[in-house]
Order: sequence, then C-alpha cells, then structure tokens
Amino acid sequence: MPRPAVNVAVRAARAAGSVIQRYMSRVEGLAVEEKSRHDYVSEVDRMAEAEIVRELRRAYPDHAVLGEETGQTGKSDKMWIVDPLDGTHNYLRGFPHFCVSIGFRDHGDLIYGVIYDPLRDELFTASKGDGAYLNDRRIRVAKRENLAGALLCSGYPYRQREHLNAQLDMTRALLGEAEDIRRTGSAALDLAYVANGRLDGYFETGLKPWDMAAGVLLVREAGGHCCDFAGREGMPASGNIVAGNHFVTAAMVKVISAHATPALLAP
Ligand code: IPD
Ligand code: CA
Ligand code: CA
Repeated sequence: MPRPAVNVAVRAARAAGSVIQRYMSRVEGLAVEEKSRHDYVSEVDRMAEAEIVRELRRAYPDHAVLGEETGQTGKSDKMWIVDPLDGTHNYLRGFPHFCVSIGFRDHGDLIYGVIYDPLRDELFTASKGDGAYLNDRRIRVAKRENLAGALLCSGYPYRQREHLNAQLDMTRALLGEAEDIRRTGSAALDLAYVANGRLDGYFETGLKPWDMAAGVLLVREAGGHCCDFAGREGMPASGNIVAGNHFVTAAMVKVISAHATPALLAP
C-alpha cells in the first residue's frame, strides 16, 4: 500500500504530466528563456511546477518546497524537492524522453520519491523501507556482478565544461570494460532505469538536488547503491553521482576515481 504522502506526490506528478503532454505538439510556440549558459526553461516547466506546488501545498501547507524554477518556499525540516520537467532539452526538441521528479526529505533523510514519465505512463515510486515500484510492480536493480556486458548511462556536463576532459577520460576507460554507454538527457529517468535494471549503472557530474532526490531513493529501495566519485555519500553536496548495484557501483567508482580531478573527488 503506498503511503498517503506518495499518493499526494503521484497526484502532483500526474497533474504536471498533463500540462507537459498538453503543450507537447506546440513546443515551437513556447516562450523559452536561457537561465544560464545551455540551461533553458520554458513556460511548460513553470506551469508544471505551479501544478505540483499547488497539490503539495494543499495537502501539506507546513512543508517547505524546493522547486527548480521557483526556488525554496516555506521553511521546514520536511521538504519536497521538485523537478517539474527533467529533460527540458529533449522536450523542446520533441525528443520523447523526459519526466517529472518529486522527492521528499525529512531532516535531510530521503523518505519518498516519485518519477513519472507521461509519454509511457510509467510511474516509479519509492518510500524508505518499503521498496521501489514501477506502476505498482516491485522493481529491483540489475544483478550483474562486474562491468563486463554492462549497459551504463551518463550525462555530459554541458553547463560545467571544465569537467569535460575528465569525463571523456572516464568514458573512454569505462567503454574499455562495459558494453555501452547511453546519454538520454534525463538524469531522473536514468536513475529510475537503474532502479528497474534497464541500466546497470549511471554516473554524472554537477547534478542539482531536484535532478536526483527521487531517483536516489528509488535506486536504494530497489536494492542498489548511490555514491559520489570517491565512493562516499557526498552526492547532495557535490552533485556528482554514481549509481548501480553494489558490485557495478564499486567497479565504476574504481575507474571513475582514477580519472577524476581533485575537484570532482571533493565532497
Ligand atoms: C537536466 C537533465 C540532464 C542532465 C542535466 C540536468 P533539466 O535536467 O537531467 O540529463 O544531464 O544535468 O540538469 O535541466 O532537463 O531539468
Ligand atoms: Ca533536471
Ligand atoms: Ca527541469
């Protein structure tokens, strides 16, 4: 049985998904703003976030909300972390791969996570201690015991080009051992796909809390592990993340840390 708070987050994610789908066929006409270099926001991101915040506030007026587009509203140790549209670049190009991501932290501890892919109607949910689910079916990370044959995934640091060389070195080294590496354009879905074993492993630099809050819980609740490039739990501070089952994560950290700059290894 999903917890009531998960139901609220699911309702919010579906409401945002409706907005996203409604405007999908008219993306050319959307007002788009470049927040910073290569970082775009459209009217749809903002409208979707407004839907989510409204649903969350109605159920939990005392909780804080950290939204990608509106920043933090409210002050509380109970905080919702919202990415209304993860994969904006894809969305604006009509590339059909994006999602809504909603996580919840209580005193810094991840408790709930919901990731919704409106195109495939795939709903990933997790509550701490209760496991991870895709459309109500229990999901688990892949069982692979090393990088041989592994399908990995990553994101290129298009906002932090100073990390590009290190990332290309890591990618070359990982490709020497794994089967292949995808770049899908949605960090939250990458983590959800690690949680249900479509991907064996994932790594990326410079993520924000809203890119990974829900996904990290999904991976953990699916029996997997997330850590930073030094193998510690420093992802929230650094934004650098490695995810997979325990074997694959350890194998990836070994390769990644050998090519990481001191800045990428810092907590
Ligand atoms: C981005 C996507 C992308 C990742 C970036 C994120 P946005 O989120 O998750 O895959 O590489 O780091 O910022 O901007 O589409 O919400
Ligand atoms: Ca995002
Ligand atoms: Ca976003």
